Amino acid sequence: MTARIYVDNAATSWPKPLAVYDAVDHFQRELGAPAGRGAYREAIEVGRLVAETRRQLALLLGGVAAERVIFTFNGTDSLNLAIHGSLRPGDHVVTSVVEHNSVLRPLRQLEQSGAIEVSRVACDRVGLVDPDDLRRAIRSQTRMIALTHASNVTGTIQPAAAVGKLAAQHGLLFLLDAAQTLGHVPVDVEALGVHLLAAPGHKALMGPLGSGLLYVAPGVEGQLQPVRQGGTGTQSESDTQPQSLPDKYEAGNHNVPAIVGLGAAVRELRELGVEAVEAQTRRLLSHLQDGLKAIPGVTLHGPLDAQRQAAIQSLAVSGYDPQEVASMLDTAYSIQTRAGLHCAPLVHQTLGTHSQGGSLRLSLGPFNTAEQINIVIRAIGEVAASAPVG
Ligand SMILES: Cc1ncc(COP(=O)(O)O)c(C=O)c1O
Repeated sequence: MTARIYVDNAATSWPKPLAVYDAVDHFQRELGAPAGRGAYREAIEVGRLVAETRRQLALLLGGVAAERVIFTFNGTDSLNLAIHGSLRPGDHVVTSVVEHNSVLRPLRQLEQSGAIEVSRVACDRVGLVDPDDLRRAIRSQTRMIALTHASNVTGTIQPAAAVGKLAAQHGLLFLLDAAQTLGHVPVDVEALGVHLLAAPGHKALMGPLGSGLLYVAPGVEGQLQPVRQGGTGTQSESDTQPQSLPDKYEAGNHNVPAIVGLGAAVRELRELGVEAVEAQTRRLLSHLQDGLKAIPGVTLHGPLDAQRQAAIQSLAVSGYDPQEVASMLDTAYSIQTRAGLHCAPLVHQTLGTHSQGGSLRLSLGPFNTAEQINIVIRAIGEVAASAPVG
């Protein structure tokens, strides 16, 4: 069997650092206790490991207070808490067409129920949102700007710091969807002026599926209601939800195997240095772009500048539907990609790819090699050359 070439890291990263497998295995075999709910040795150790993951994430976000990092189950869960927990009837939200359905759908639901109004600002041909367009969409009832940090279709990195300034000038909450950036590029939430940062733990952070986080900036907890209530292992005498962080938002048992795996991943990422990992994946992306640009019949979407992108490249091969290309790459070359709209339907209208079945997406991670990229380029070249004429 041909070795698997995994270039679907924007969906979830694979493989994970070995330390992640070891941490999950150690938890499952040796510890197996809940976090924050027992006084025996293993439960105390699990509590320590969960606190250590929180501490690692807080350092990664620029050295914030650890209790401001809320564990969730994925990026979608974080975004739902941020959106449903903070918006109130009568609010207006400014967002963009670049967003993932995990932002678009909760907002659409609140809009359809008549609770809020939403403005969706356009992007340019490479998926970039102009902060001036966001500014023009602000009204007196605007409560929040919700923006993805990098498009999961084009990889385009948005000017988050400028948007943070804009939000501060107008006294708005700034929700940043960092699903495609946290772990891939350095993110300092205070420098960016972010109030709520949502991210999965299982993409560029390299943790297991079933992990995610929401960062809540100082003071914002007063405006953010929990969307779930229940046991926290603390203040058990009271039948109301604790107001202290992180318990206010963490009802029910944690996904401890995923959290301890995430802790091991982030520790390793910080040891290697996000900048070093970023430089490596950017080199691979540049190499991929150079190779693909030279192939007749291949159209590349997005900025085509690895410095301005997450490690994502969307493309079309003339004569084929993106699903057909994905299937040929998998069957003939064991290259694992993703085809379709990637849960971000609106951006495809701008790219002109909606009616073509979306795009083929290649998304890289630190475990990809230059040799694998060469195989991918060669394979796409062969697929493009085999396209039916006319
Ligand atoms: C930009 C963006 N936001 C949110 C999400 C949702 O993350 P999760 O799959 O962890 O729920 C994704 C996942 O693909 C994404 O790319």
